[in-house]
Amino acid sequence: MVKIETFIQKAIERIKREAKGRTLIALSGGVDSSVCAILANRAIGNLLTPIYIDTGLMRAGETERIRETFKDIDLEIVNAKERFLQNLKGIIDPEEKRKAIGETFIRIFEEEARKRDIHYLIQGTIYPDRIESEGGIKSHHNVGGLPTNIDFDKIIEPIDELYKDEVREIARTLKLPTEISERMPFPGPGLAVRIIGEVTDEKLEAVRKANTIVEEELLEPYKPWQTFAALLEKGTGVKGDIRVHGWIIAVRAVTSRDGMTADTLQLPWQTLQKIESRITREIPNVTRVLYDLTPKPPATIEFE
Ligand code: XMP
Repeated sequence: MVKIETFIQKAIERIKREAKGRTLIALSGGVDSSVCAILANRAIGNLLTPIYIDTGLMRAGETERIRETFKDIDLEIVNAKERFLQNLKGIIDPEEKRKAIGETFIRIFEEEARKRDIHYLIQGTIYPDRIESEGGIKSHHNVGGLPTNIDFDKIIEPIDELYKDEVREIARTLKLPTEISERMPFPGPGLAVRIIGEVTDEKLEAVRKANTIVEEELLEPYKPWQTFAALLEKGTGVKGDIRVHGWIIAVRAVTSRDGMTADTLQLPWQTLQKIESRITREIPNVTRVLYDLTPKPPATIEFE
């Protein structure tokens, strides 16, 4: 990457050039979209309408956290939980899921733009989203997952040539709070790509609770590049002398530089045992917990 200050200057000029009127900016609360928001604010300030879509596929407390983080700006929060769940109904194929999510996102942005006579959208796509989508690895929700007919004059992607570690450097330079600049990545399609098969309310609730436990046990002590829980299939177990056909939860914790490759974190056995016992005790319909040993490649970081 060119020098940080030069990049920032060029990105601001690019936004000024490309956004020829009022512009929607898609905020998720992560580092990528937050960096874009700061750059866009410097470029076109009062022409900007920030918007956050609550997909219902977020982690516990996410929407409240975003409301709090951005309390000083006029952030539009769209509740689209029902719509995402409806559009995901019956879909089990990972690529179809990603496409359904990408399409739902963009249609909501289009509707919100139309209401305000807005024709430009800024989103925080980064370079790996593009290469993984174009290389056929997986359709990231903001690139390969998008439909071809999009009703915006232009989608502006100011950081689409950067890797995650470079975005973090810019975030530090722009003095974003460390909770944002150092924040663990969370994928746009959210918990949907951490649930194998159809996304349902019941699965979402189980994986969300498991994810909270994993974050509580691993984030602070081990500072992984990324860690989370995923929900696989069902397996037989026994709880309180009763046979339970419950969910299997997989725990993932990796180190990485830019997400393009990743190594599995070598966790102490006691830590893994504590996570297992908390998940099976605190979530009634989970009967089994696995730790994913696989680096990237051959696995990807997310399960779908
Ligand atoms: P994978 O699973 O491809 O993940 O090894 C690499 C990094 O990218 C994140 N990821 C996504 N981020 N939209 C995003 O914004 C997506 O569709 C998407 N898919 C994966 C993933 O969490 C990891 O940090």
